[in-house]
Amino acid sequence: MVNDSAILQYDGKSYTLPVVTGTQKETAIDIGTLRARSGLITLDSGYGNTGSCSSAITYVNGERGVLKYRGYRIEGLATQSTFIETAYLLIFGELPTVAQLDEFRRILTANESIHEDMRYHFDGFPPNAPPMAILSAMVNTLGCFEPAFMKAEEDAHFIEPAARLMSKIRTIAAASYRKSRGKPLIYPRSDLRYTANFLHMMFSNPYALYEADETIVDALDRLLILHADHEQNCSTSTVRMVASSQANLYASVAAGICALWGPLHGGANVAVIDMLSRLADSGESLEKFVERVKKKDSDTRLMGFGHRVYKDFDPRAKIIKKACDRLLAKLGIHDPLLEIAMRLEEIALNDPYFVERKLYPNVDYYSGIILRAIGIPTEMFTVIFAIGRLPGWIAHWREVRTNPGSRIDRPRQVYSGPVVREYLPIAERPG
Ligand code: CMC
Repeated sequence: MVNDSAILQYDGKSYTLPVVTGTQKETAIDIGTLRARSGLITLDSGYGNTGSCSSAITYVNGERGVLKYRGYRIEGLATQSTFIETAYLLIFGELPTVAQLDEFRRILTANESIHEDMRYHFDGFPPNAPPMAILSAMVNTLGCFEPAFMKAEEDAHFIEPAARLMSKIRTIAAASYRKSRGKPLIYPRSDLRYTANFLHMMFSNPYALYEADETIVDALDRLLILHADHEQNCSTSTVRMVASSQANLYASVAAGICALWGPLHGGANVAVIDMLSRLADSGESLEKFVERVKKKDSDTRLMGFGHRVYKDFDPRAKIIKKACDRLLAKLGIHDPLLEIAMRLEEIALNDPYFVERKLYPNVDYYSGIILRAIGIPTEMFTVIFAIGRLPGWIAHWREVRTNPGSRIDRPRQVYSGPVVREYLPIAERPG
């Protein structure tokens, strides 16, 4: 909604720009006409001040530690909803009725298997191939096996491609793990719900079924809810950017998976466990480690700390920490890495370096401890994040593709290279 304006003065001229207000009263200067009128563009490395779109899916208030999906607070969803219900909410905008949820579940169950020929694609990966690489490649491959859904945009029928992709990504994810460990692929079980079925495909063997403990299924389901969307983060912005070129859902999500892989984004959950394990093995004092992290020339960061948007506690981290304590107590697990994590957190939260920069634990700080307790191997942590984030990616893809005003994303730049150079044949170039 436009209800105010801002004035920019440059080179003796004045430009009035509309100020847009969102439903949570956040304000933004709409610079859509700036270049045409003034020749100026804005420069915002890392996009810390740039709103790339207007979106009705998720609201984050980093100063107050608030996260809501479609208006519903994360605290309520994480304790009362299920991952599948939350996914429906994100993708379709409303909590489902009983009939809608049944239909969504029916399509999920009907599509839990992947085409038999996709198995040969898994064989093409070398041993120990990273599961995130396999996941991204196989989601794109999946599109080739479902050509009808590559064109999917038709709003009324969107439940079909959305549920199919959600169902199959879990089968692909489990298969990517089995492949990377040289284990036989396990078929899904239609009698199991989404999360339990995933654990079955991860851990069952042809000669021994894995029966998941309810506590474990519940903990993983809640973790998936917490990861389900987070507005314009790196991977979601990637999905939106690819979608803006009118690329299909599979290609857009495959790109999002690649963006999520990086250690500053979804890969941080692996980096946290690596960091805690190194600290446990080396015996380095935690105080000394924190001093090392703070040095300007250090390439070490306190992984799982800090967030571009949250300048207070990440609300997801608070929920995860509690869930972590509960799960470990219930399973009777004593994890020395949890103790290190808690001591490290205390040191950091009392250190002026972290206080001044408003660096708090983020969603990844404790999630790895939960995943370890569940028995998920470290190389699968980011894959689990991807399964959790998929409903958000699908919701954003749909939002881009159903917005009649959507344009291809194409940022500008300030060029900083040589002005003009004459081509010299190789023989004439100075040695
Ligand atoms: N350890 C030590 N110093 C840090 C850390 C950290 N984890 N995070 C930020 N800083 C410092 C940084 O060096 C800078 O200091 P100075 O002002 O002296 O130059 C200041 O805090 C601001 O940092 P920044 O890198 O400009 O902040 P950013 O918004 O660009 O980066 C971040 C955000 C999440 C990439 C960063 O905090 C980080 O690298 N954290 C560790 C990785 C991590 O946990 N990532 C998961 C993020 S949450 C889940 C997700 O999005 O996937």
